[in-house]
Order: sequence, then structure tokens, then C-alpha cells
Amino acid sequence: MGVKTVDAIPLVRPSLGEQELAAVARVFSSGWPAGQGPSGKALEADLATRYGVTDAVAVSNCGAALHLALLALGVTAGDEVIVADYTFPAPAHAVRYVGATPVFADVRPDTGTVDPRAVADLIGPRTVGVIAVDTLGMPADYDELNALTDRYGLFLVEDAACAIGATYRGRPAGALAPVACLSFHGRKGITSGEGGALLTTDPALAADARLRSSFGIGSIFDQAQIVGLPIPEFTEIGYNYKLSDIAAAILQVQLTRVEELLDRRRLVAAHYGQLLADEELVTLPVVPDDRTHAWQSYLLTLHPDVDRAAIATELRAHGIGCGHGTWASHQQPVYDSSQHCPVSADLARRNIAIPMHAELTPGQVERVAETLRTALHSHTRAGAA
Ligand SMILES: Cc1ncc(COP(=O)(O)O)c(C=O)c1O
Repeated sequence: MGVKTVDAIPLVRPSLGEQELAAVARVFSSGWPAGQGPSGKALEADLATRYGVTDAVAVSNCGAALHLALLALGVTAGDEVIVADYTFPAPAHAVRYVGATPVFADVRPDTGTVDPRAVADLIGPRTVGVIAVDTLGMPADYDELNALTDRYGLFLVEDAACAIGATYRGRPAGALAPVACLSFHGRKGITSGEGGALLTTDPALAADARLRSSFGIGSIFDQAQIVGLPIPEFTEIGYNYKLSDIAAAILQVQLTRVEELLDRRRLVAAHYGQLLADEELVTLPVVPDDRTHAWQSYLLTLHPDVDRAAIATELRAHGIGCGHGTWASHQQPVYDSSQHCPVSADLARRNIAIPMHAELTPGQVERVAETLRTALHSHTRAGAA
């Protein structure tokens, strides 16, 4: 009583509403909520059109899409795959799923995306390909990366998990390499809670991924439409990586909202930029002129003398969600790597994510910036700016 509680400002919030609910209701009525049914097929067609690719395979998440991509590309034990280091480590995990070795490439200090020169330096006799990441929504340097992988006969996979709506030299993220993987996890620009897709211009690769996403047999929905009793045979040890038609229907609606939702995220980013431009204790995100950001997250790089944990504690005490940014993959104990990626390690130490989603109001953005400024000046070692 008498204590005024402040409204919480979450780090992440999906934009799901009545249109998505209506789409789910339609799937309920259709009688086919499982995967590879009418909604799944319609979503795949929508994705293929949007990205100008021959095939889109709807799957349960982006980790599954990466796994299927590497299986279809024939990656196997003894192979090395070069992966971007500064990221949620799904690419390195996928390399390990197929028994191969991830080799970690350091990133650009300004964008956090993989440095093509670091990739070039790591190519060796066992290298079979590269997984580049559109770091938190920022596309990597695909002209340089495609030239490099073409020159050495390697594959290039674009992990565009965070990058729906972003562009690189006028082309959409998700169509910047011969194979790309998307995520529709709840934190991404569009979402069905969990979900993913594999996009490719190679029909054989898509067919392989689709088959293995369904235990190694074709679509059960398709089989059920045939008059007679065809008994499908298992031709691969596949997985159950299918996206449900419930999720697919939600995504069909969300796909029509990409630009609307991204415009709202852009406004938030611009507002933060304006409010924090003169703050010497943080470096704001840099977006090179030849690309646009999907703003999956808004990351600030703190001055080395700022106590990041104390800032996070203070923001959360004021009801403001925040996070550490992302991971320096090579430092994760599971990989037992002896490599060094100093730029990635430095970003992982100094980045902080502040609220970024399409539901933020200008007043909330102002409250975040103001609370952050106060926290910065109370938790910085003397001598810093
Ligand atoms: C770059 C990147 N790749 C892959 C993933 C995994 O996505 P999903 O949760 O859809 O498997 C993530 C998750 O955040 C990610 O950031």
C-alpha cells in the first residue's frame, strides 16, 4: 500500500494478435494440425516467393534447419566447418550434430559479423564449408564470403535466424547464400513461438532436407490423399523436424506483417540512437551504408570501465529487461576449443542488450535510456569518461 510499482518493460515481446488467432482457429476446423499439411505447404510457397528461391522447407526451429542443411550438404566426421564465433552457438552445435569439427572465425568489431579475412585464414585441407551468421539481425559480408567459398569450392550457409527483413546491398537476408536458415522463435522479428525454415536454390538439397525432416518418409498428409493404400518406405534415418500446421498458419499471417513490425523496431532503434548519442560510456550499434538491420536485438557496447553486471542488476531492479548480448562460441566449454577470437571475446564481455521489440512505446524507450544513463554513471570505475 502506498508503494508505486513501475510497469515492467520486457526485453522481448512478440506481436501476436487477433489475426494470428483467427488463423489458428481455421487450422483447428481443417482437421490437420500436424506438419506438412495445407498450411505448411502454403507457408513454404509464401516463403519461396518472398525470397525468390526454388524451395523453402518449413521446420520446427532454426537449429533443425542447420542440422538438415549440413546433412544434405554431406558434411561428415573428419570435416571442418568454419563458423562465425559471435553468436548463439547453434551453428557450431549443428556441426557437432553431424560429427564434424567447428572452427571458429573471429568477427568485425563494428558489426559483430564474421570477418571474411579471418575465414580466409582458417581454410585448410579438411574445410568443407562456412556458416556465416547475420548477427542479431545484421547481415554479414556476403559478397566477400561468396567469392571466398566459390574460389575454394566450399559451401556457404547463411544463418539468418535473427535477420528477417534485413537487407544486404539491396537483397534480403535469407537469400544471400545458396542455403539459408531462418528462425521463428519467440524473440525473432516474426514468430510462431518456435519454428524455422531452410531456404535454398538447390531442389535436390531441399528434397533431401524435407525427407529427413519427416523421419525419412514423404508427407503423411500427401499419402492420405491418394486413393488406394500406398505404404511409404523409410529411405533415410530422418528426424521429426516438421513444423506443425498450427505454427505455419500463424507464420503466414506474420509474414504479411514483416515490414510493419520492422518499421516499429526501426523507430525504437532510431529513438535509442538519438537519446544515447552523446553518452560516452556506450558505443551505439553501427549499420554500414550497404545493409539494413532487422533489429532482433539492440546491443550497446559498454566502456571497459563500466561494471556490466551492476548495470544489469540496476535495470532489472527498475523493471527493465536486459541481457548479456550473445556468446563467444569458442569459449563455450562444450567445444573444448584452444582457438582465440579476441574481438568476439571482447564483444561478449562488453555488450548489453536493452529492450527491443515492436510493442515498445516512446515513453518506455525514454525510461530505458534515462535509467541506463543513471546506472552507467553510478557503476563506472573512476577515471572513465
Ligand atoms: C544465429 C542463431 N542461429 C540459430 C538459432 C537457433 O534458433 P532456434 O531457436 O529457432 O533453433 C539462434 C537462436 O537464437 C540464433 O541466434
